[in-house]
Amino acid sequence: MENIYLDYAATSLKHFDIYASVTKKLEKIYANPSSNHQMGKTANKFFKEARRKIADFIKAEEKEIIFTSGATEANNMVFNHIREKFNSGEIIISQIEHPSVIECANKLEHLGFKIIKIPTLSNGLVDIKLLENLINDKTRLISIMLANNETGIINPIKKITSLAKKHNILVHSDIVQAFAKIQIDVKELGVDFASVSAHKIGATNNFGFLYAKNADIKPLLIGGGQENNLRSGTSDLFGAMVLADCIEKTWKNKEHLEELKEYLLAELKTSQIAYELNSDTKLSLPNIINIYFKNIQAQRLITYLDINNIFISGTSACSSGSLRASKVITNIFDQARAEYSVRISIGFDTTKEKLDSLVYKIKNLEERILKRG
Ligand SMILES: Cc1ncc(COP(=O)(O)O)c(C=O)c1O
Repeated sequence: MENIYLDYAATSLKHFDIYASVTKKLEKIYANPSSNHQMGKTANKFFKEARRKIADFIKAEEKEIIFTSGATEANNMVFNHIREKFNSGEIIISQIEHPSVIECANKLEHLGFKIIKIPTLSNGLVDIKLLENLINDKTRLISIMLANNETGIINPIKKITSLAKKHNILVHSDIVQAFAKIQIDVKELGVDFASVSAHKIGATNNFGFLYAKNADIKPLLIGGGQENNLRSGTSDLFGAMVLADCIEKTWKNKEHLEELKEYLLAELKTSQIAYELNSDTKLSLPNIINIYFKNIQAQRLITYLDINNIFISGTSACSSGSLRASKVITNIFDQARAEYSVRISIGFDTTKEKLDSLVYKIKNLEERILKRG
C-alpha cells in the first residue's frame, strides 16, 4: 500500500533532487567557507550566493540573515536578546505560539519579566484589539507568529507592527509555516525579527535562520565568530545551499497547493461527512487545514488512517506521540472540540487521488461509527 503523507506542517518530504544537485556541486568543494585557501574561498562564494538568494526572497539585506540550527534556536536568540538588552519589562505573545516561543517567554517570566499571552478570536486570529489595549510603556517585545502551525491562519502582522512602532516596541514573528507559502517582505511587514526553519520546505533538518533588522541582535552562541559574530559554529554550507534552492521550488508549488486545498474542501463538502473547519480557510495558508469531525474522535481517526498508511496529525509534531488534544484548538474553542479535531497538511507530492483516498477513508470510518452507535 502506498504511503499518503499529509503531515507536511510537521516536516516536509525532502527535495532529494536538490540534495543531489548540491551534493554534486560540493563533491569537489568541501572546504570550510571560513578557510582562507582557494577551496575555502570557492566554498565561501557558494555560501554568499545562498545567503543572497535567501535574503532577496524576503527582501532583506544579506547581513540581516543569521543562519542557525533552525527556528527553535532563532526564537531563543530573540528572547535572549530581550533579556540581555532590557533585563525587565513586559512581553506580549499569543496563546497559540509554537512551544519554542512559549517556553522562551516562560523562562523570561521566571527571570522577572511580565508575560502576557493573548487569546484568539473564534476564527483563530490573534485578538489585535486586546493586544492594542495591553501595549504600554513597559512593553519590550511583541512576538506573534505570522501563520499558525496547526490552523494555518495568517495573522495581520503589519497591523501589529504599526501599533508597536508608535511605542518603539520590538516585534518578532515566527514565520516558519508561512515562509515560501505566502509572499513575505520583511520590510513591508515591519518586523524586527523573523524566524525560519529549513525542514518545513524540503530542505535539511536543524537548519534555518533569524532575520534581524540591521543585524541588531545579541548572539546566543559565542565562539569562533561566524555569522558576523552573531552565531558561532562552523557554517553549514550544504544546509544553506539546499535551503536557497528549496525556496524557489516551494514558491513555484504554491498554486498547486491552493488548487489541492480547494479540491479537498469541495470533496469534504460533497462527502456529507459531519465536520466544521477550525479556521477561516480564506485567511489561511494554502497547505494547512484543521478540521473538527463531529462524529470521529481525533485519536481514533489518526490511528485508523495510520493503519491505512495515511499520515495526518492531531497536535503539533513536537508533542506527537502523546495523546493530548491540541492546545491550540483548545485555546481557540475548547478541549471537547480539540479531541475531535485533526490537522491535514499537504505538500509537493500530494495529489487529488491521494486526497480522494483520505476522504474515502474518513467517510468509511464515520459510517462504521454511526452504524454501531
Ligand atoms: C511555527 C513553528 N515554529 C518553530 C518551529 C521549530 O522549528 P525547528 O524545527 O526548525 O526548530 C516549528 C516546527 O515545528 C514551527 O512549526
